[in-house]
Amino acid sequence: MTGPVIDLTGKVALVSGAAGGLGAAVAEAFAAAGARVVLADTDHAGATRTADRIAARSAGTAEAVELDVRDATAWERVTTSIRERHGSWDVLVNNAGVYRKGPIAEMADDEIDLVLDVNLRGTVLGTRAAARSMADGGAIVNISSTAGLAGHRHALVYSATKFGVRGVTRSAALELGERGIRVNAVCPGPIETPMMRADQVDWSAVPLSRAAAPREVAALVTYLASDAAAYCTGGDHTVDGGLSA
Ligand SMILES: NC(=O)c1ccc[n+]([C@@H]2O[C@H](COP(=O)([O-])OP(=O)(O)OC[C@H]3O[C@@H](n4cnc5c(N)ncnc54)[C@H](O)[C@@H]3O)[C@@H](O)[C@H]2O)c1
Repeated sequence: MTGPVIDLTGKVALVSGAAGGLGAAVAEAFAAAGARVVLADTDHAGATRTADRIAARSAGTAEAVELDVRDATAWERVTTSIRERHGSWDVLVNNAGVYRKGPIAEMADDEIDLVLDVNLRGTVLGTRAAARSMADGGAIVNISSTAGLAGHRHALVYSATKFGVRGVTRSAALELGERGIRVNAVCPGPIETPMMRADQVDWSAVPLSRAAAPREVAALVTYLASDAAAYCTGGDHTVDGGLSA
């Protein structure tokens, strides 16, 4: 093999929730590996700023589109437009997510619906969009969590969605394998992003005693999206400083 082991040159990748946080770091890592990256977010202004910053300094290219992952029509519009402009697409990262914390007895209906809809319905709709129009041989990476591997006190709905994301991942891997489309879940522990407040973490449970930088999680996502991971599908891949050990 010649050239870099992790190389996304020539691939078109859609990353949801890419205006900031982990999604922005994934988009940046993909573009650095040579991909053409589409940053999709409800925060279109933020995604545009991030895309412009990435495009200015990367081997690949970056562009922003507006997408609410809860909206089936919006998925259709965005993926049709990508195919019209780029021919096909090869990588999907279902990253958009929201977190709400609190005792289940105190969670409001609209908070429950929001977390279920963005984290789980959004991942299902993204997977369907990929199944309908992604190129054979593509890759889907779904962002779960260590809260999708073990229960999370006072984050019942979030935890349920992240277990669900792993179910989507395995079922999609079974279904799409015959087209060479690989589907993997990444289960991060705490990451330094706007979603995570350091005072919400029990640091004594994390062997490395710190949060991940977004780029440390993005590195695993980039590997799984690349042909270097050609035999990985249907798996849960932790990047959690040892939390789940
Ligand atoms: N931060 C952590 O500690 C941590 C740990 C494990 C897993 N995760 C997961 O990583 C992923 C990214 O989280 P983050 O920490 O970067 O969060 P973040 O809040 O920093 O970023 C989330 C992004 O998703 C976007 N978004 C929200 N709702 C959307 C919707 N309906 N449609 C499209 N975009 C939407 C937001 O605008 C934002 O840009 C999430 O799935 C999260 O559950 C985060």
